[in-house]
Amino acid sequence: MLSEKMTVALNGQINKEMYSAYLYMDMSAHCTYEGLDGFANWFMVQYQEEMSHAMKIYDYINEQGGKIILEAIEKPPGDFGTPLEMFEATLKHEQFITKSIHDLVTLANEEKDYATQIFLQWFVTEQIEEEANDNEMIAKLKLVGNDGNGLFMIDNELATRTFTPPASEE
Ligand code: FEO
Repeated sequence: MLSEKMTVALNGQINKEMYSAYLYMDMSAHCTYEGLDGFANWFMVQYQEEMSHAMKIYDYINEQGGKIILEAIEKPPGDFGTPLEMFEATLKHEQFITKSIHDLVTLANEEKDYATQIFLQWFVTEQIEEEANDNEMIAKLKLVGNDGNGLFMIDNELATRTFTPPASEE
């Protein structure tokens, strides 16, 4: 059973994951517009990941007999700059999400909610991977700088990314 506080906080995280999906969908659209189809694919896979994160929390609240409270999703910025700037913004956003997950863990500890503590462990691990992916991309993009060939090669590499639903990873 979820406490009132925990229910509100988990619902808040659904909203943050939905916003993340919306943000990456917008970044994907921006990349398509700029002719960077591989980058567009990477961000669209990221969109799918974020939707699955939101649904994982949604399913958990339902399983625990809690109430789902959906709020408005904020508008993404729409102006994203270069691929390097996009990944720097992505890292910054993921650091914000990591902090939010850690705050949920703190709350679950305070509430002595052992089930939610265990449930959140998956997200703690996932955030390490998300930030690592962004740091790797930032390093690569800094390495190629303004070199068109290098960017072309990274774009080709990112075209191969596919979505793996979290359930099949467990
Ligand atoms: Fe669902 Fe990118 O955190």
